[in-house]
Amino acid sequence: MPSNQPIGIFDSGFGGLTVARAIIDLLPSEDIVYFGDTSRYPYGPQPLEEVKSYSQQISDYLIAEHNVKMIVIACNTASAAAEGDLRNSKEIPIVGVITPGAQAVAEVSSTKRIGVIGTVGTINSQAYDKAIKGISPENIELVSVACPGFVEFVERGEFEGEQVRILADRLLAPVIQADVDALLLGCTHYPYLARAIGESVGEGVVLVSSADETAFAVAKSLRAKDLETTNINQGNRTFISSGDVSWFAEQGQKLFGPELEKAIPHNWSKTS
Ligand code: DGL
Repeated sequence: MPSNQPIGIFDSGFGGLTVARAIIDLLPSEDIVYFGDTSRYPYGPQPLEEVKSYSQQISDYLIAEHNVKMIVIACNTASAAAEGDLRNSKEIPIVGVITPGAQAVAEVSSTKRIGVIGTVGTINSQAYDKAIKGISPENIELVSVACPGFVEFVERGEFEGEQVRILADRLLAPVIQADVDALLLGCTHYPYLARAIGESVGEGVVLVSSADETAFAVAKSLRAKDLETTNINQGNRTFISSGDVSWFAEQGQKLFGPELEKAIPHNWSKTS
């Protein structure tokens, strides 16, 4: 049965907007509800068990209050922590960013020496090592590097400048040393720092974001489950934040564009 219910998308904050943008561009008639858990970000340094319980809570909220037909975990850390668990416990389709990202970077690399950067939680979970092995068990060499501090720059709205560049040069040194030809931005916040990251690793390294591949995975899953909308006009876009909503809208607009003119507040202490 086609379904005009919205697609639920969530992240710790603004990073998932890169995925939301790709979904909107590919599927403009679908309604989306985006949840940025800014009162509890960053997820990267927190224990995966904690991030798993946040992910459960947000998914339950999106299903109960917004009647979503699918959940897109637009966050690598939350995908690493909770994707399997959500898939087992929810009746609606769950799409994460790790498998689409791993597939994209494996396709792009010709030397099969690949880098992946992400939060401490994502890198320590080894979710990408497992995903790459699952896609292509033959000789892909993967260099994984955690980049603490990148997310905070994005959330502060600082995408360029000397401080970003100094941190990028320091954190990305092992990637340069490993002589990779493709680098997966394994955190949905990182595309906003693509310029600094690109300058740091040099022109010979192709930067891959999981946003587009995840949007294709969403489209494929909706088709397979016969859940595509029948709406032919532009879909509704709803943005929710568990933190300061005026800041979310102001900062979010700079990243996402004028469609994010307001955000609806959600207060966890009143619901949990
Ligand atoms: N955007 C998230 C990710 O893809 C995490 C950012 C964070 O909250 O640390 O991993």
